[in-house]
Amino acid sequence: MEETTISTLKQWKKNKNKFAVITAYDFSFAKLFYNQGISIMLIGDSLGMTIQGNNSTIPVQVKDIVYHTKAVRKGAPKAFLLSDLPFLSYYNISKAIENTKKIIQAGANMIKIEGGKKILNIVQELSNQSILVCGHIGLTPQSVDFLGGYKIQGKNKDDAMQLIEEALLLEKAGIKMIVLECIPSKLAKKITEKLSIPVIGIGSGKNTDGQILVMQDVLGITEENIPRFSKNFFNKDNSIQKAIQQYIIEVKYGLYPTQKHSF
Ligand code: KIV
Repeated sequence: MEETTISTLKQWKKNKNKFAVITAYDFSFAKLFYNQGISIMLIGDSLGMTIQGNNSTIPVQVKDIVYHTKAVRKGAPKAFLLSDLPFLSYYNISKAIENTKKIIQAGANMIKIEGGKKILNIVQELSNQSILVCGHIGLTPQSVDFLGGYKIQGKNKDDAMQLIEEALLLEKAGIKMIVLECIPSKLAKKITEKLSIPVIGIGSGKNTDGQILVMQDVLGITEENIPRFSKNFFNKDNSIQKAIQQYIIEVKYGLYPTQKHSF
């Protein structure tokens, strides 16, 4: 496969090619996912739960993201990697730049930052420094206590309007991609249509440009607190490789997510 770049992503958006994204945290899985056809991976701060066994993403440190980004990069040298800026690692511009530098130097192509209006100046500054930034709105796990738990966002009209406004402002500030987490399908569709950048959904219905899932959910490794929106693709056939292929095909042909996985 050719190297996947931001131009590849733009092309996919333009051509309406739906694409599957998965979290990856280590060399072996990154290699396996890439070899099965996934060329965008997220080194997410979900590693706080899936790898470190915490009950939230809050304890994750920049050094953890750096460590896992380096491992994933070795497994998938040609993939497009986005890595999270973890909790409170971007509370001002100089911190954001300092920590972004470490993560990009570890091998990430793009940085993902949770938040809306409050991070616009950081997005602008990073973009001015030619850093690719991915937004993340809706359910933002780093603010789980502030949001009152892991719940669907944007259900009422005002909240929905605010999410649309934030998505547009983030695009204007310079983000080149965005993740919409746990928002109603209709709202995700509207945002996807309004933005010219690729929109990746998780728990946000089938109408986004791409889908992202946590690898432990896709492979049936998660045994407790399984999110309603996720799907264990490993049940289908008896191999991890087949599960990944099925995931890619179902996203591509709009078979996943269905109503059952949407809010
Ligand atoms: O950290 C993560 O894995 C994420 C995805 C669930 C979008 O942010």
